[in-house]
Amino acid sequence: MKLIFLGPPGAGKGTQAARIAAAQGIAHISTGDMLRAEIRAGSDLGKAAKAVIDRGELVSDDIIVAMVEKRIAMEDCKQGFLFDGFPRTVAQADALSGITPIDLVVNIDVPSQRLIGRISGRRMCPDCGAAYHISTHASDSCDSCGGKLYQRDDDKAETVANRVRVYEEQTQPLIDYYQSRGQLATVNGDDDIDAVTAAIQEVLKV
Ligand code: AP5
Repeated sequence: MKLIFLGPPGAGKGTQAARIAAAQGIAHISTGDMLRAEIRAGSDLGKAAKAVIDRGELVSDDIIVAMVEKRIAMEDCKQGFLFDGFPRTVAQADALSGITPIDLVVNIDVPSQRLIGRISGRRMCPDCGAAYHISTHASDSCDSCGGKLYQRDDDKAETVANRVRVYEEQTQPLIDYYQSRGQLATVNGDDDIDAVTAAIQEVLKV
C-alpha cells in the first residue's frame, strides 16, 4: 500500500504515520525527519536545509524529489510506504505522479487554533523520531528507545506562524488536487490520538 498523509504543521501526521505504517507493515517516510538527520550529520544538504527550515520555509522541490526517489528505491519500501510531509507543493505532487502511483491520500483536518498549542508543547526523540507532548508526557526521555527529548528549533512561536502560512499557501492546494483525482479521504484530526488512528484505519478499509 502506498499512502500520503496531508495536514498542517502539528496536525498529527508523524504521530499517526508511525502507528499506521507499523500496523500496515510499510515504511514510514518523513521528509522532515530525513532533513533533520542530514542536519545532525552535518552534510552539505543539512547545512543548506537548516536555515530554510528554521525560517519555516520549504526546501526546494528538486532536492526533496531526488531525496524521496532514492528513498523509495530501498528494500524496506518494497511492501509499500507512507509519506509524512511529502508532497508539499503541486510541483512535488506532479513529480511524484511520474515516479509511482499512490493508493490513498489521507487529509488530517485540525482547526488552525489547535496547532500552536500542539507544536509549542511538542518534544521529539532525536534517536527514533517519536513525538510527545508535555501535557501527556512529563518525562524528558523517550518511552520507545530512552533518547533524551528535545524541542525542535522550528517549533518556536515566530517560526510556527510562518510554517502555518506556508502550509496554507503552498500545501493546502493539494487537498483540491487529490480530491479532483478521487484519491482523497479526510479524517477529523481534532480528537484524541487513538480515535484519529481508528478513523484512519476505517478509511483504509474502503
Ligand atoms: P516536518 O517535520 O514535516 O514538519 P510539519 O509538516 O510542519 O509537521 P510537524 O512535524 O510539525 O507536525 P505533525 O503533523 O507531524 O504533528 P505531530 O504528530 O508531531 O517538516 C519540517 C520542515 O522541513 C518544513 O517546515 C520544511 O522546511 C522542511 N520540509 C519537510 N518536508 C518537506 C517537503 N516535502 N518539501 C519542502 N520542505 C520540506 O504532532 C504534533 C504534536 O501534537 C505532538 O506533540 C503530538 O504529541 C501532539 N498530538 C498529535 N496528535 C494529537 C492529537 N490527536 N491530540 C492531541 N495532541 C496530539
